[in-house]
Amino acid sequence: MALNVNIADLLTVRTPFYYYDMDLLEKTLDTVKSLSEKYGISVHYAVKANNEKKILRKIASYGFGADCVSGNEVLLCAENGFAGNKIMFAGVGKTDKEIYDALKTGIYAFNVESVPEMKVIDRMAGHLGVKANIQFRINPNIDAHTHKYITTGLEENKFGIPHFGFADTVSALKDCRNLNFLGIQFHVGSQITDVENVYALVCRRMNEIVAEFEAMGVEVRSIDLGGGLGIDYGNPDEGEVADFATWMRVISENIRRREGQEIHVEPGRSLVAQCGSLMTKVLYVKNGEKKNFAIVDAGMNDLIRPALYQAYHRIDNLCADEEGRSAAKYDVVGPVCESSDVFGEDRELGLTGRGDLLAIRSAGAYGAVMASRYNAKEFAQAVFSDDIDSAEKEVDWFTR
Ligand code: LLP
Repeated sequence: MALNVNIADLLTVRTPFYYYDMDLLEKTLDTVKSLSEKYGISVHYAVKANNEKKILRKIASYGFGADCVSGNEVLLCAENGFAGNKIMFAGVGKTDKEIYDALKTGIYAFNVESVPEMKVIDRMAGHLGVKANIQFRINPNIDAHTHKYITTGLEENKFGIPHFGFADTVSALKDCRNLNFLGIQFHVGSQITDVENVYALVCRRMNEIVAEFEAMGVEVRSIDLGGGLGIDYGNPDEGEVADFATWMRVISENIRRREGQEIHVEPGRSLVAQCGSLMTKVLYVKNGEKKNFAIVDAGMNDLIRPALYQAYHRIDNLCADEEGRSAAKYDVVGPVCESSDVFGEDRELGLTGRGDLLAIRSAGAYGAVMASRYNAKEFAQAVFSDDIDSAEKEVDWFTR
């Protein structure tokens, strides 16, 4: 266990809480910054992964842009350090108010997913007397070999403009006087671990699509390959920084880049997942006939990924690790009234008891942002490694 924490400090904090290691976030961002400069690739953080203001401000301070999927994300980014002209706005169902707010903010581009949406953006831009930059989000029909809920680039998915719609979209664009066309975007899915093969394919497909649009007389100034770089959920310590080096190398080797053409990417998970852990205390240990249960105070309302995607998150018992207790396995379960409220089965935690602090690892992405208040639970607080003192403290009658 190499989670870089002072356990005594964390034991005083009211659980459950999301703990963010800001040193690891910086280390990750340093890596991405130097690679993006080396390869000339612009990075737009996919805000949906984690929208804590402090994290947004840190990412913005590196000069990265943002990839947003709602009007509120656009506004949040504009208020937390991102330059308006580095904010992209994607999504199949942008509402009129969201489009209006984004136009007022003066964003870099809308990623347009259908002709009807394009016409609404054009009309509203005309009404406001501005020109809106757009990129076409294409459905590339590529299988990213990931969980079916997080694959997005297949024909049967709702995302993007399908191949048969290219010509109609280009002809509709000609009538949109308030739009400025920048380029093509697509995103094939998330948690992609076969980086070499999948991204080589993504680039080849992008090369073909760009050529098709150019053949229709459209100038493609910008190419956006989406996000999706996977992380190592099994070994969050050895794999604390995702393989950005391979990702960016494969992109730069495989994309056909014309003079002056911009390349953009939209990583979410890979920037923030490993710096976050969901910290939870063991309330009770219940020894069953076949299994032992460690019942914790966090639930699927705090982190839904295991229940929703059967996702694996490593779990460390920070107290048992520190004290070197003997081996023992547990199912780690939450308090919510659902059988799927399980964080992990048969996990080796060391001999576990009431009051032990468990870290559910790799939870910085799609953790807090997907939390709910099911069962009228409170949202878990966010605690940052450089500011543990300001965290809400545990009540002093919590007994071990
Ligand atoms: N760009 C677009 C258009 C996207 O739809 C996404 C993610 C990203 C970028 C960022 O992808 P990333 O680099 O994070 O893989 N809740 C799921 C993940 C859903 C991802 C949705 N789109 C999970 O917990 O695994």
